[in-house]
Amino acid sequence: MTEDVIILSIETSCDETACSIVRNGNDILSNVVISQIESHKRFGGVVPEVASRHHVESITMVIEETMAQADLKPADLTAVAVTEGPGLIGALLVGINAAKAFSFAHDLPLIPVHHIAGHIYANQLEEELKFPLVALIVSGGHTELIYMKDHLSFEVMGETRDDAVGESYDKVARVIGLPYPGGPYIDRLSSEGEDTFNFPRPYLEPGSYDFSFSGLKSSVINTLHNYKQKDIEVNTADVAQSFQQSVVDVLTKKTMDAVAGCDVNQLIVAGGVAANKGLRSKFEELCDVKNIQLSIPALKYCTDNAAMIGAAAYHLYKKKHFAALDLNGRNYIDIEEIAY
Ligand code: KG4
Ligand code: ZN
Repeated sequence: MTEDVIILSIETSCDETACSIVRNGNDILSNVVISQIESHKRFGGVVPEVASRHHVESITMVIEETMAQADLKPADLTAVAVTEGPGLIGALLVGINAAKAFSFAHDLPLIPVHHIAGHIYANQLEEELKFPLVALIVSGGHTELIYMKDHLSFEVMGETRDDAVGESYDKVARVIGLPYPGGPYIDRLSSEGEDTFNFPRPYLEPGSYDFSFSGLKSSVINTLHNYKQKDIEVNTADVAQSFQQSVVDVLTKKTMDAVAGCDVNQLIVAGGVAANKGLRSKFEELCDVKNIQLSIPALKYCTDNAAMIGAAAYHLYKKKHFAALDLNGRNYIDIEEIAY
């Protein structure tokens, strides 16, 4: 019988202080997420220095709570994993230093994990990944199409040339007057509206899998500005639905083209925006017609959490991809260049 691999994982790349214990890459023994959203709301976005301070306040308690929920002692663990980047450097360093201290104190290997790899591996918490696969990662900081021929092999097919899709959601929401983070609010409001504005669909040049959402965002903002100048009342639910339809059309068309071009066994959609109801149902509809196996994490594993870091770390553990105690946080790490 092979021994269980039980990994304590820590994620602090942005505004969630998260810790989890995952057995063998898919069995969640405990999962704790402390969100800072309420604190950042008043600023309309994440303030990096405020995020770091909140991580410092919460990290010890979050780790203790995670251990208590799983009813485990440090001696029961196999390794400690932590998000190395990309993310806010001050925020990352809080998680990294906690992970280093835990690993040193309990003589456990330290596993550095790429945040986007974590989002992709959130799907493994529900079902095995089936290679080759295409993954669409849509979050507050990323919009990427990635091809994986096997575990830990990442080829970037396309990425955003400007704003990430979650970032556009948050900016448009702010202009409409919705709270931060705007994605879930636009998603909810859009269900009450119609696509009456017909905003542009930025498909870019044929054959490109890159994305660009800043023009769409500007188009929404300019339209609202014009209405305001002419003192015409705008139906915000229609604006939300029109914006969302444009985003969903572009994301699904490009992704389905990418899938058709590389004969894959699975399509994965991950990251905070994968929680979007309009996006989920459009992908379900298209994959059903084309008979493609679709995997999207449960809502709570779409947004930042540490269980996804533990799921990815399981494969890194098997490859003995360990870090020394001089591990540093990095605000950018090319997922193709990580030496797995
Ligand atoms: O993955 P995540 O938690 O953090 C990053 O790694 O960036 O993603 C956060 C982003 C935010 O921009 C938020 O507005 C967006 O995900 N988001 C949504 C929805 N839920 C969260 N966007 C659209 N629809 C949603 N339901
Ligand atoms: Zn994320």
